[in-house]
Amino acid sequence: MRKTLFALMILAAASSAAAAQTYAGLVPRPLKVMPGEGGVVMEKGLRICVSDGLESEGAWLCKHLENVFDFDMVLSDIPVPGGVSMRLVDGMESEAYRLTVSDAQVIIEASDPAGIFYGVQTFLQMMPPEVYGQRDMELTRWELDAVTVEDAPRYGYRGVMLDVSRTFYDADHVLRLLDWMAYHKLNRFHWHLADDNGWRIEIRKYPELTEKGAWRGDGEVSPAAYGQGHGRYGGYYTQKEIRQVVEYAAERHIEIIPEIDLPGHSRSLIGVMPEMACPVDVPYISVNGETDNVLCVAREENYRILRDIFKEIASLFPSEYIHIGGDEVDHTPWNNCPHCQALARELGLEGPQEIHSHFVYRVEDIIHGLGKKMAGWDEIVISDARYDTSSMVYAWRSVESGRMSVDKGYRTVVQIGEYCYLDMKQSRAERGHSWAGIVPLSKTYSLEPDEILVGAPADSSLIVGVQAGLWGELLAWPPRLMEYQLFPRLCALAEVGWSSKADRDFADFERRLYGGHFSRLYNMGIAFRVAPPEVLYDSLSGSLRVRPPHPSAVVRYAVDGAPTASSPVCRGEVVTDAPERMLFATFFGDGLSSIAVGASNIDLYHYIDPEMTVESNFPLLEGNLESLARRGGTGYSDRVLQEGDVLTYRMASPVECSRITVSSGAPSSGMFYVTDAYVEYTTADGSVVRAGDLYHGELSFEPSAPVTQVRIVMTDSNDGYTAVFHGLRIEK
Ligand code: ACM
Ligand code: ZN
Repeated sequence: MRKTLFALMILAAASSAAAAQTYAGLVPRPLKVMPGEGGVVMEKGLRICVSDGLESEGAWLCKHLENVFDFDMVLSDIPVPGGVSMRLVDGMESEAYRLTVSDAQVIIEASDPAGIFYGVQTFLQMMPPEVYGQRDMELTRWELDAVTVEDAPRYGYRGVMLDVSRTFYDADHVLRLLDWMAYHKLNRFHWHLADDNGWRIEIRKYPELTEKGAWRGDGEVSPAAYGQGHGRYGGYYTQKEIRQVVEYAAERHIEIIPEIDLPGHSRSLIGVMPEMACPVDVPYISVNGETDNVLCVAREENYRILRDIFKEIASLFPSEYIHIGGDEVDHTPWNNCPHCQALARELGLEGPQEIHSHFVYRVEDIIHGLGKKMAGWDEIVISDARYDTSSMVYAWRSVESGRMSVDKGYRTVVQIGEYCYLDMKQSRAERGHSWAGIVPLSKTYSLEPDEILVGAPADSSLIVGVQAGLWGELLAWPPRLMEYQLFPRLCALAEVGWSSKADRDFADFERRLYGGHFSRLYNMGIAFRVAPPEVLYDSLSGSLRVRPPHPSAVVRYAVDGAPTASSPVCRGEVVTDAPERMLFATFFGDGLSSIAVGASNIDLYHYIDPEMTVESNFPLLEGNLESLARRGGTGYSDRVLQEGDVLTYRMASPVECSRITVSSGAPSSGMFYVTDAYVEYTTADGSVVRAGDLYHGELSFEPSAPVTQVRIVMTDSNDGYTAVFHGLRIEK
């Protein structure tokens, strides 16, 4: 009894204050939000009234409301006053909806179930954020101010692409992502199912594609990759699982577009069927660091195999599109293959770009024969080839490549790397790629798809929408990096895809994000990224000035290490005589925190840079040993590492220091690190001390005495064609 009373009191305080706020906190921002007079109270006996054909949308709403209300809801097809009614009406655009909260009731209207579903999403955002979670709030009533929301999407295609080849996510994981997408009114899931590093979809006619092609590691078809170790790594979806995921997505009004990436990015396929590659032995390394990953265009049997594969895929996915890849093909094998060259002569194909187009024509034909349309990456439109105008192009390389696609009359999805590739770093110090630039939240939000029309006579309706891309090279660790990379940048992209161009305003988006939507993401169970504070040292006052990433952020600090959830809270300024020892981080809820940062204007670690030389018993690229003798220098091995390879840093005289950090990996991404090695150091008295094993390519240790040399001793091969070493970081 006491508990109920308590809940009621909290609610009374929360509801009147929250209601007015909530309408200003909707993400993505609706087209029109028009406040009305009065309001409605949701309480015991709440009826959810749905007309025929909307049972699934009604059940979705009930399922979520049951998370917070301490009363039963009645799902009914008889409309009654005082409840939440959903009904189909004539005359609205596809996916548009009207949500009316009046004195008497809540009505969600649309001309299709998808519109109703999006009205339900907006309605859920008017509830406490716990609707998204598992924690029962035991609410007995909830007040809503009167309002009318009239809303419709800017684009019909609002997608997420997930690469499950580099990092595998099982079906349950994918289902959770589909839920998160649905909450953000996203409606296309582009499932990148086959790439160099793993084939992820069961094909009954070719069981070896998943029995072998889905696995990598020592002794497997594909070699170890991306730091996932020499053991067996991989996984795949059975056709039964695929059907379940497709059905689950459809209930959430999400269409799944499957991709098999061809004719490059085909290493896992070629690993299982080596005869699909050109029969030439000419070495090449594709731009993404792979070998043996290009299909022969002249081998007729290849098209029969691809037809078999696509036939099964066409029967599993109701989408009218099948994505065939087409990106990043290394032309070396075609240029050297007698069969590809003979074909080119016979058909008058000039150069590899036309060989590429010929392949795409052939596959387009297969796709059409199966009653589907073709989609591909923007490389398919580089040449003068003209595919069917039903084909859809995914512009990823640049604004210009998007322009080329619409100029040629193709329906175009905007997934331009510098805005939409959420595998890019969110700030310089965070994990991620950076080849398309650092992609902070503001950058993603600033995407304006119409930019690709500038200077082009093209029809703007050819821009069908926007999509986030998440490639998997770096996602295996730390745990839940997928969620960290997607959110909140995906919220920004959802708004680019849904909200009107005129209403887009980053400051307003940030207010809604931090003022309410973060709590929703938190209740969804998403381990989203929290931004670190900005810290500057002011030497005049001897204080660290700390600017939180947003006004309600909680920043904590610690000395000589990263702050934890129990570290003291910082309120703007810390007076200290040891500014270089202090680290700060932003915290959210129970368990989420940003990276830890120190003052950006002082040298945090007191590095020392003693004179040294570097030697190796394996080849490095020219000049790299000299580079490795400096902090910040790098050295690339000129082959895959082997057990017994040793890199030695030899000091000119014994170095007294508090800590030494050995690290490896490409500076821009962290790829190509040393996976298996230990570190030992020699002290001034000649003793050799084992410091420990590299962990994800790194090790920090505190030497017990002045150091004369540090050695990295490899115990196994690394998992790329090169390994990147760094100069030592030595702290005073
Ligand atoms: C791509 O990023 N290679 C489509
Ligand atoms: Zn060939």
